[in-house]
Amino acid sequence: MIDILGSYYDWIKALHVIAVMAWMAGMLYLPRLYVYHADAAKGTELSETLKIMERRLLRFIINPAMIFAFVFGGLMLWVKWDYFMGEGWMHAKLTLVILMTAVHGLYARWRKQFERDENTRPAKFYRIWNEAPTVMMIAIVIFAIVEPF
Ligand code: HEM
Repeated sequence: MIDILGSYYDWIKALHVIAVMAWMAGMLYLPRLYVYHADAAKGTELSETLKIMERRLLRFIINPAMIFAFVFGGLMLWVKWDYFMGEGWMHAKLTLVILMTAVHGLYARWRKQFERDENTRPAKFYRIWNEAPTVMMIAIVIFAIVEPF
């Protein structure tokens, strides 16, 4: 099985990077919707439209993309486990990936609060949290490609 996966390694890596791009696109866009939603009066047409956009973005793009990023990344880890577990950059990368997944979880919880009209945080709060995945994404890509340590 590992031999077969090894012979398709570059295809798996390409699918991994495609899934990661979709995941990051959603992680950078969703908090931007929260910035506008925090300023929209509850019960208005704008607020109800943003609820639909947030739900569909999370359920049909961000969640599946994260799952595929883990599946294809996990397959590559499995193929070269001993090598990657000896690499400092992979440890640093996976630590940031765990933090990215935690931020994903926070975004999902905040979406439910908006859906129930329970948000009390200002737009500025979401503008700051919009930067978290950006900074982590930059560091992860540098670790994955430059392999600095
Ligand atoms: C979700 C869990 C993840 C796992 C288990 C994972 C694991 C891996 C592994 C094992 C590789 C192959 C490295 C190699 O062959 O040199 C890889 C490549 C890569 N990963 Fe991930 N990764 C994950 C998430 C991410 C995220 C969130 C990003 C970006 C934000 C990312 C960006 C990349 C890039 C750009 C490459 C290609 C590096 C190259 O061409 O050498 N990965 N990943």
